[in-house]
Amino acid sequence: MSDAFLRDALAGLTAVPKTLPGKYLWDETGSDLFDRICHTDDYYPTAQEATLLPRAAAAVARDVAPGVTVVEFGSGASRKIRTLLDALPSPSTYVAIDISGDYLEAAIRRLAPDYPGIAMMPVCADYSKPVRLPVAAGPGGILGFYPGTSIGNFEPREAALFLDRARATLGPSLFLVGADGTSDPERLQRAYGGADGLMAAFHGNILTRLNRESGADFDRDNFRHEIRLCPDPLRVEAHLVAIRPATYRLGGHTIAFSAGESIRTDTSHKYTADAFRTLATASGWRPRALWQTEGGRFTLHLLQAEG
Ligand SMILES: C[S@@+](CC[C@H](N)C(=O)[O-])C[C@H]1O[C@@H](n2cnc3c(N)ncnc32)[C@H](O)[C@@H]1O
Repeated sequence: MSDAFLRDALAGLTAVPKTLPGKYLWDETGSDLFDRICHTDDYYPTAQEATLLPRAAAAVARDVAPGVTVVEFGSGASRKIRTLLDALPSPSTYVAIDISGDYLEAAIRRLAPDYPGIAMMPVCADYSKPVRLPVAAGPGGILGFYPGTSIGNFEPREAALFLDRARATLGPSLFLVGADGTSDPERLQRAYGGADGLMAAFHGNILTRLNRESGADFDRDNFRHEIRLCPDPLRVEAHLVAIRPATYRLGGHTIAFSAGESIRTDTSHKYTADAFRTLATASGWRPRALWQTEGGRFTLHLLQAEG
């Protein structure tokens, strides 16, 4: 276990209420489960975004010169990037940044043979901290890509800091970012609470990871997965709720749970198009174009940063 994981887990599990930082959901098992979640009918963001991405990619392709360097934050299985790489004029380099190192390497090994003319650069890094690119901008400049609803996993203040850091990482650039403003409770419950039971497995895996990497003794069967829809700001919280009172050992400390006490393992903040644009503008990005699904629930924003 990394020192940071143990330190962050102890800080979160000795706080009131208990939390674990969502970034630790992403080991190889977590990444694989999330990829399967994206293929379920319940998890609507992937399908919604897929209806917008080809149009956005075609428009961006008209805006960038040949030789562009494409930088994806949280690249996961590197599936969506294919739509961009196929549309752009001769991209030179694909920099894929992800915290889930083994999964990242495997995703790039699958992608690379289909794009022999593009330099593939996987970067295993935590983008909640400053990230430096391993390569200078290509002759076509830099295009950042942050798809899905990952921006919502930050608290709003941290989301603004992330956008600010991304601007520092990318420099003068375009940045294509996904955001979700869905507010329908049933839809949110199905996507975040269901997805064929995979969401429960995805969140429960963080306890398995803690046990494996720290020698902790959490009994995963004593926790059930629960979704809480919260207003102001609108967000979906994922919790692991203790069924019975219990104590567990972690890094020489005792962590006690009463029945019904929970660990918050992730949050997904929902952004209307206007709310996201306000956030991006406050972080120094200039909104340049917007694609949205009918009703404006899912949005793809093209942002620009000048030098
Ligand atoms: C919700 S998934 C999105 C995957 C893919 N981009 C998509 O849209 O389907 C979030 C991705 O970001 C990565 N990730 C989460 N937190 C991260 C962090 N702090 N630093 C780097 N990568 C992170 C995860 O490993 C995962 O691949």
